Formats: sequence, structure tokens, C-alpha cells
Amino acid sequence: MPRSTWKPCRDAIRIAPSLLAADFGHIAEAAHQLEESGADRIHVDVMDGVFVPNFTFGTDTVRVLRRATSLPLELHLMIVNPDAHLSTFASAGADAITVHYEVCANLHRTLASIRTLDCRSGAAINPSTPAGMLDDVLELCDLALVMTIDPGFGGQSLIPRTLHKVEQIRREVERQGLDTEVEVDGGVDATNAKACVDAGADVLVAGTAVFGHKDGPRGGIAALQRAVTAAGATG
Ligand code: DX5
Ligand code: ZN
Repeated sequence: MPRSTWKPCRDAIRIAPSLLAADFGHIAEAAHQLEESGADRIHVDVMDGVFVPNFTFGTDTVRVLRRATSLPLELHLMIVNPDAHLSTFASAGADAITVHYEVCANLHRTLASIRTLDCRSGAAINPSTPAGMLDDVLELCDLALVMTIDPGFGGQSLIPRTLHKVEQIRREVERQGLDTEVEVDGGVDATNAKACVDAGADVLVAGTAVFGHKDGPRGGIAALQRAVTAAGATG
């Protein structure tokens, strides 16, 4: 869904399942299954083996996913030199592209470039990166992604201290009067989803908690939605 038609939805918690936990041999079916299971969008983790010690999807897979689902595809680029690949991923079908602060020498320019491609723009920070590093680019961010684990692999445990950063970014988004979504990614499950939302997250990425759920993605997504709804969080 191109940026020009996207309307931020401020009063509901969105679930963005990560395909990293899906069966890579049936990735199109996994995307279709997520659409059938109530996912709000699909989180596509792109890894280059340099920024993170792992490899995953490239532009061809994004094209396959684009054909397989009408859900928004949000790409999480865990790659060095993302500027060189923005237009390729955008033309492959990305609706949103998130880059890492840690590898962008000119983050302001990179985020502006993503928007010129009519994609929603996102900036991500790793657990060791202070939240304030995004303060001066939030106005160019449709999405601020707080990594709650060190990136590269699914199935890790959420680092509790990172939730203070979610609070800080939420406060800064409100202070600046922005519509930026605040997303958490890594180790999110039904036991900590409420704490993430209470801290100020409105988008939850989850791989293991969705694809590893005993009742499959539909059960995993429902469990996350219940966790944030039952606890009095909107959703
Ligand atoms: C890790 C990725 C995450 C990961 C989340 O580098 O960015 O999106 O797939 O997976 P879980 O939810 O299993 O931690
Ligand atoms: Zn991710």
C-alpha cells in the first residue's frame, strides 16, 4: 500500500508477523496463511551476512511475496549500504522500508529517499543504540523500530531494558506531534506484549510467537491480540 494511500491508525495495535520464522520452502504460502490469519502486515527481514551474521531474502523473494498477498510488506533491511538497494526493493513491491541507524551515514537523506519512492520510511535502532539518536529524524519516519534483541536470528528473548527506549521514543513522537508508529521487534510474545504496548509500542513484530504457536499463525496472532486487549490496551 503506497505511502500516499496509507493512513496511520493510532488507536489499534498492529501485529506484523516476521517471515523469518516461516518455512522458507513455502514462503508464498506462509504469506497467504498470514493474510488468512488476521495479520495486519508482513514483516520481511532482509539480511546480508555483514550487518548481521545471517542471510535471508532478496528482491526476488519480495516479488514473490508481492504476488502472494495484498497485505502491506514492511521490509526490515539488516544490510550495509541500504541506499544502494532502496529503489530495487521498492519496485519489487515493498510498502515500507526500514533501515538501521547504525549503517546510515546520512540517515536523514536515506529516509527522505525512501519516501520519494512512495514507500513508508522506517528507522531501526539496536539495543545498544540510545533512543535519542532518532530524535532529529523522527519527522521523516513513518515508523521507528526499537530492536528488543540484537538482530540476526529469531527465537531470542526480549531484552527488558529496551522498553525504556520505547517509552522515550513514544514521548518524543508525542512531543513533536508526529504520527510515527513505534514498533518492537525481537522476542515479542503473549507474555510481554502488554509491557511493550504499555511502554508505547503500537506495532508488534513476532516470528516465533506466531509461526511457533501450537495453533499455527492464526492462534499466535490471536494470542498476541488477546494479550494487548485483555490487559486494557487498545487493539
Ligand atoms: C531478527 C528480526 C526479527 C525476528 C523476530 O533480526 O529482525 O524480525 O525475525 O523473530 P522473533 O519474534 O522470533 O524474535
Ligand atoms: Zn525484523
